[in-house]
Amino acid sequence: MYAEDVSVSKIVEKAGTPLYIYSHKTFLQHLNAYKNAFNGYDHTICFALKANSNGAILRLLAKNGSGADVVSGGELFLALKAGFPAEKIVYAGVGKTDDEIAYALKSRILMFNVESSDELKAISRIAAGLGIRAPIALRVNPDIDPKTHPYISTGLKESKFGIPIEDALEHYGFAKRLSNIKILGIHKHIGSQITKVRPFVDALKKVLMLADNLQNRGINIKHLDMGGGLGIDYNGDPPPNPEDLSKAVLPLLKKYNFNLISEPGRSIAGNAGILVTKALYLKQYPKKEFVIVDAGMNDLIRPSLYNAFHNIVPVRKNSRKKVTVDIVGPICESGDFLGKNRKINRIMQGELLAVMSAGAYGFTMSSTYNSRPRPAEVLVKGNKFFIIRERENYSDLDSKIMMPNFLK
Ligand code: LLP
Repeated sequence: MYAEDVSVSKIVEKAGTPLYIYSHKTFLQHLNAYKNAFNGYDHTICFALKANSNGAILRLLAKNGSGADVVSGGELFLALKAGFPAEKIVYAGVGKTDDEIAYALKSRILMFNVESSDELKAISRIAAGLGIRAPIALRVNPDIDPKTHPYISTGLKESKFGIPIEDALEHYGFAKRLSNIKILGIHKHIGSQITKVRPFVDALKKVLMLADNLQNRGINIKHLDMGGGLGIDYNGDPPPNPEDLSKAVLPLLKKYNFNLISEPGRSIAGNAGILVTKALYLKQYPKKEFVIVDAGMNDLIRPSLYNAFHNIVPVRKNSRKKVTVDIVGPICESGDFLGKNRKINRIMQGELLAVMSAGAYGFTMSSTYNSRPRPAEVLVKGNKFFIIRERENYSDLDSKIMMPNFLK
């Protein structure tokens, strides 16, 4: 297996396993697919940092014209550091703290995507203290079922996110009366890994009706933020691409002069990265066979948390007999698996496996559970590769510990 023009085994020789490897070219290709699809309509692509927030990846996207969607002070810090212009940063999240709000206000971000009246009041109060007006959109919840995993569905009535769309006029009215709030937009995000265009269109139609109603009340919307991007191909079943999305969406927007914002994360990063892991041991029982690998749920939690499917393939092709195996990690939990009942050519001890589509929500969701240092990350560009995050070591695990005197 090659990442661009470099053999994956070569990279592993230098950087070890488990290892995240990303392709420079694929990141750009995915970003450009969005840019080109919406070309001709005023738009801003704001990459969702939660999918992948490695500083080098962020720099790559920022340099190529992307904006950023952040959901915490930490993400805002990383976005600014990577060079995303503040005027291309939007900030969502149901639980922004006073400090985070002040930080974003002082940084002059494009707008807050506000999720409640309480938050609106907090932003207004903090903006007043700074003597400025805070740019906002309200995140409305259009009650559309995105038909995805329940943990990543956000646009249904019972979700903690946003303001129910039927209450939105009232909330916009309230926002308008707050002197330190400047209404700039509407934001919606109904979920992630959406593999049909239809939910986007249905949600957008509801949002446009709201925009019309607001216009009638003298509130003009400048930025229409349609939230996260498309789902990706995890199992050989390709979802729509950005062009399909824009073809469905742009005709609805023709009569408006919005700046259309979208916040893709997964569809930019997901298939631009893999997680490489090494087979440590094999266990063969009459009814079950396991390949125990050196990457666990702490490195990639998606299979354990969402029962998510990631294709897993040998880095070096072989023609051995096909067997059905569970590919599991070293963590002391039965929920620690990368793939179950996978039919693959028999793997030998020491061989490498690639967990595909791991560029989004991979490293960003990793942890040091079981006190395992987190993996390294590598970016490949053509025939060169660069370590863009060092592997953590044992002393990193202890680096923030403060020993009380009585224990010294
Ligand atoms: N904008 C907002 C407000 C979001 O909440 C999200 C994702 C995105 C944009 C990016 O959505 P995307 O383009 O990636 O679909 N950890 C889960 C995914 C959680 C998504 C949360 N919000 C996973 O591994 O599947």
